[in-house]
Amino acid sequence: MRPTPFDWPSVPGGTRPCSAWALRPYSPCGIGSVAMTEPDFLRDTRASYDAVATAYAERFGDELDARPLDRGMLAGFAEVVRAAGAGPVADVGCGTGRVTAYLDGLGVPAFGIDLSPGMIEVARRTYPGLRFEVGSMLALDLPDASLGGLLAWYSVIHVPDERVPEAFAEFCRVLAPGGLVLLGFQVGDDSVHRSEGLGHPVALDFRRRRPEWVAELLGQAGLEVRARLLREPDDDGDFPERDQQAFLLARKPA
Ligand SMILES: C[S@@+](CC[C@H](N)C(=O)[O-])C[C@H]1O[C@@H](n2cnc3c(N)ncnc32)[C@H](O)[C@@H]1O
Repeated sequence: MRPTPFDWPSVPGGTRPCSAWALRPYSPCGIGSVAMTEPDFLRDTRASYDAVATAYAERFGDELDARPLDRGMLAGFAEVVRAAGAGPVADVGCGTGRVTAYLDGLGVPAFGIDLSPGMIEVARRTYPGLRFEVGSMLALDLPDASLGGLLAWYSVIHVPDERVPEAFAEFCRVLAPGGLVLLGFQVGDDSVHRSEGLGHPVALDFRRRRPEWVAELLGQAGLEVRARLLREPDDDGDFPERDQQAFLLARKPA
């Protein structure tokens, strides 16, 4: 069976104000006098998506058409974000921009951020009316409390378990009070390493996770889980999947 885009090719593991992780984001230039080198997982993920960017857009540009329940979750997210009226949505790990554009089409002001300049280049070319920037979810170049929503659609899957609290603290920091976050990811307990994808050499780890574990970490970052959808794998059609899919909606307390 051909893997889904996000599993071409997981690992398990009180609400409070945004966790202290937000105070010490990753910085390629180091923090103060402490020099830091970029972790291998960021470098490898960026290089891999740069290599597959065009092929990814061709293969998965219309994948959402085959996913009515995923579109339903995105529509619900768009509606609650609009109702909260707390600001625009950042699609973090936007890839080639297909979901950013979908949200924009639902009337939510949306822009994209991605680690891979290659993916961002394709997104800008495909959706010239939308804004896309290169950046990492571990150190978002966004002011505190500036977003009404944050979407991380199959992007946290490339962040190692021990760095996920850092990403969620960043999500909490940039969300305005009452802002919402929506996550999509594959359910499971294992991690898969791929050295080939869409006909290109890559070095990517895909982490399947338990929704309970992800929900616990969201809570620790200061985000309240408001809804969970578990979808069984679609095992026919053009985009067959092998895993259950999870979608978690959480809110920063108003
Ligand atoms: C499976 S693709 C999903 C892309 C898009 N969300 C979609 O649904 O088509 C994963 C994306 O997450 C991005 N990504 C991975 N780690 C990231 C990080 N630390 N910060 C920002 N983007 C990241 C990758 O560059 C890639 O474009």
